[in-house]
Amino acid sequence: MNESMQKALKDVMTLGVICTQWGDTGKGKLIDYFSQWADIVARGTGGANAGHTICVNGETYIFHLLPSGILHTEKINIIGNGVVLDPHIVLEEVGILAKADYTCDNLKIAYNAKLVLPQHLVMDRAKDIGKGRIGTTGRGIGPAYTDHCARFGLIVNDMLNPEIFKAKLKRNLKDKVKLLREFPIEKIKEIMDHDHLENGKFFDEKEIFNVEAITEHYLKLGQELKRFITDTDKLLREALCKKHILLEGAQGTLLSIDYGSYPYVTSSDSTIQNLPKGVGLSTADVDLVYNIVKALYMTRVGEGPFPTEFGGTKSAEYCGQSGITAETEKKEYPEVTLDPDGDEFMFGVNVRRAGSEYGATTGRPRRNGWLDLPLLRHSLQVAGKHGQTIALTKIDVLDKCPTIKVCTSYKYTGPDYNMGGTTLKKGDTLETAILLSEILEHSEPIYQEFPGWMTDITKVKEFNELPDKLKTIIKFIEKEAKTSVGMVSVGPDREQTILT
Ligand code: GDP
Ligand code: IMO
Ligand code: MG
Repeated sequence: MNESMQKALKDVMTLGVICTQWGDTGKGKLIDYFSQWADIVARGTGGANAGHTICVNGETYIFHLLPSGILHTEKINIIGNGVVLDPHIVLEEVGILAKADYTCDNLKIAYNAKLVLPQHLVMDRAKDIGKGRIGTTGRGIGPAYTDHCARFGLIVNDMLNPEIFKAKLKRNLKDKVKLLREFPIEKIKEIMDHDHLENGKFFDEKEIFNVEAITEHYLKLGQELKRFITDTDKLLREALCKKHILLEGAQGTLLSIDYGSYPYVTSSDSTIQNLPKGVGLSTADVDLVYNIVKALYMTRVGEGPFPTEFGGTKSAEYCGQSGITAETEKKEYPEVTLDPDGDEFMFGVNVRRAGSEYGATTGRPRRNGWLDLPLLRHSLQVAGKHGQTIALTKIDVLDKCPTIKVCTSYKYTGPDYNMGGTTLKKGDTLETAILLSEILEHSEPIYQEFPGWMTDITKVKEFNELPDKLKTIIKFIEKEAKTSVGMVSVGPDREQTILT
């Protein structure tokens, strides 16, 4: 641990890292970085919809369920009770690490984490289609959390208790079979003929799901996972104030079921309000939070309003098509030139290419747009006293961009909207975003322009060495969002991190 980390985390025992946007802001990188300080790293929210990237010494790892501190073999890594866990993905990730000589002996899984089963993947993939779709990751997240709230979900430990597993599974399948009967059986068969679903092994022509096949398979997976399963809530409560605990957020505040751009969100609360709960702790237990802000552009994957999107609906529609990948875009647009005064859609394509903005879970192109302060103000208000420190990531991506725009407020352009006792009218200014999609889609950004810094910052080690033009923008963000920048990330590698 270097001196600046020691200084930044002096007196901190429990540290949180969350994203203030629509995910993919560099949580994996920051968690790996702070793992040097931590004794325990714990994930408490989301599931394999997350894709957290870590770059160390030229090697890149992407984790969907394993906590991003897992490469630090002497640190305990926990998948907490709030996570919806797909056993296949955990075992797949453990297998990949085994090939690189990581034993994962430092991994612990909450016995009471929620289980993602084949029916959840099928429901997710069968339902998220057509007009009004969310554009989910197809990892069964919504259906698994829905079952938990409906009080007939299964937990990880059920895989270790055959009778309980089978009885709960039968109960769990009832409503799904009813619903899926509305779909052509060929469609269900096609969905289940997928390697995430053991290539059709769980399909039954008559009953839709083959209970015996699922039971046998998951009891086997349970045995493979057994060595990791324990009471992690207890472990963390006992470690509180004695060990350095690092909490790893998934998704981001704008994707939160409670505070995000509903209904275009995930199915758990991905804010700091819920992260500690997902590992058996409380928000009051957290001493410091790094709220990550991708800057000076931001991204979103999937459907939903995005006020500052480069190229607006054209970009949204383009990114929503299937078949667009990093490779196809590279072929079609080999040159990367960052010209914000040219065609807006093309600027977006170029920023995506420059920042390698392709989903770590699905490979989809990430939609992108300028940094949006009304949304950031909202996210920091949700974080409350934990919103005092932000981390700016991916700053280096716009090193060659001559002009930078920051959205400072919105002009409301929609029809009259009754908001309690007041009415939001066309032309009204909004300093803080209202996270309802019917308002966000009528929120027109107002920008402040800055000259770009036009120098390579990827090797900068100290905050003071950053170009003045960039420091001016950073100060502006701090003032406008009433927060302070505690970290600047200037590249994907663990080492390319500056603590202020
Ligand atoms: P997460 O979901 O928040 O963990 O973020 P992702 O891993 O999905 O996406 C972040 C991407 O940006 C990854 O490819 C990281 O390697 C990369 N990254 C993180 N920080 C930086 C940075 O400061 N600069 C650049 N150029 N890339 C970064
Ligand atoms: P990390 O942790 C970006 C998005 C999906 C979709 C919506 C709902 O890597 O930042 P879901 O499968 O959760 O039901 O999909 O949420 N989404 C993410 N977008 N990063 C993520 O995770 C995401 N997890 C979910 O694209 O729009
Ligand atoms: Mg990600």
